[in-house]
Amino acid sequence: LFGALDRQPPDALLAVIGMHRADPRPDKIDVGVGVYRDASGATPVMRAVKQAEARLLAAQPSKAYLGAEGDQRFTDLLAGIALGPELAASDRITGVQTPGGTGALRLGAELLARSGAGTIWVGTPTWPNHGPIFREAGLTVRHHAYFDAETAGIDEQAFLSSLDAAAPGDVVLLHGCCHNPTGTALSPDQWQRLVAKLAERRLIPFVDLAYQGLGRGLDADAAGTRTLLAAVPEALLAYSCDKNFALYRERVGALWVQSATPETGAAVRDTMLVLARSLWSMPPDHGAAVVRVILEDDDLAAEWRAELDAMCARINRLRTLLAAIHPALASIADQQGLFALLPIDAAAVEALRAQHAIYMPASGRINIAGLNEDNVARFAAAIAPYLGD
Ligand code: LMR
Repeated sequence: LFGALDRQPPDALLAVIGMHRADPRPDKIDVGVGVYRDASGATPVMRAVKQAEARLLAAQPSKAYLGAEGDQRFTDLLAGIALGPELAASDRITGVQTPGGTGALRLGAELLARSGAGTIWVGTPTWPNHGPIFREAGLTVRHHAYFDAETAGIDEQAFLSSLDAAAPGDVVLLHGCCHNPTGTALSPDQWQRLVAKLAERRLIPFVDLAYQGLGRGLDADAAGTRTLLAAVPEALLAYSCDKNFALYRERVGALWVQSATPETGAAVRDTMLVLARSLWSMPPDHGAAVVRVILEDDDLAAEWRAELDAMCARINRLRTLLAAIHPALASIADQQGLFALLPIDAAAVEALRAQHAIYMPASGRINIAGLNEDNVARFAAAIAPYLGD
């Protein structure tokens, strides 16, 4: 049976983690996988998370099964953060807990396939896992224009006009904020024009919101998503708590689906639960319980917000530092989130790894939080020869 299977290349991004770990050079720099790092290069457990975990350890009454929807109170409290109070109260929106943002994307993909959607459009470039997630669910993945390497910004005209090739009922995958890998973000006006285009072409948006709070702040980072959901009849929102609660390996996320009517929404929810049951039966509890404990308690929630704001401020300080280093990096100051795409090729990425112990994926995407006041000058000197004049 298994003789028909081919060997597969290792996941390129996860391979960078392993290569960096194995490198004995003491001054190595990891700007690879998208995890927040503090000034010492660590990815600490957030203080609010530690306190919530202590409370759970002391008081959690049971670990008996919850159900395919996971911890519904977690999802409902998180809806207030992601969607804002108005949309969170909508009877057309229903949400369930998922194993991370990837679980949310996959559950949404399965729901789309079950609903008869055939094609999803993703931007060029996008997170390398987007394509596989949707293809594995049986959807056709097509690419629309998005990033202009010349300006290191969004080519809005090409973006919107490439959506003219989409058929009514096609789905469009959008990054809610802090675009991975480019760091770009749509302005409020650009969101408005995108909403008009989606409505004109009768396309269904599927927003991936994985970095809320790490760009401009919790509400600002969700503003585009909220505008979109308020304007269209149907939409999906995949959410990850990996980065903004630093719960990466706990796999905490949620999927919300907005339907045209509450009646349709009830069938959507039933279908989500049936699909979740066959995919993972029930999502892992611990991380979601931690987020629930934080959001249920005003003091813990305030502490979490303050920590998140400090992380966001550190990333933005590093962006300013990096942008000042070379004219080719100037746009990094206006971008947001963990990532920026360096204008360098795969050969340069390899040379940086071999000669300078600097680790990033072949695309030239860097995780800005991997830099700090001590290594940024060495990083700048190493990449300078590849940036042109
Ligand atoms: C990244 O893009 O680095 C993160 O989203 C981690 C991952 O799973 O790829």
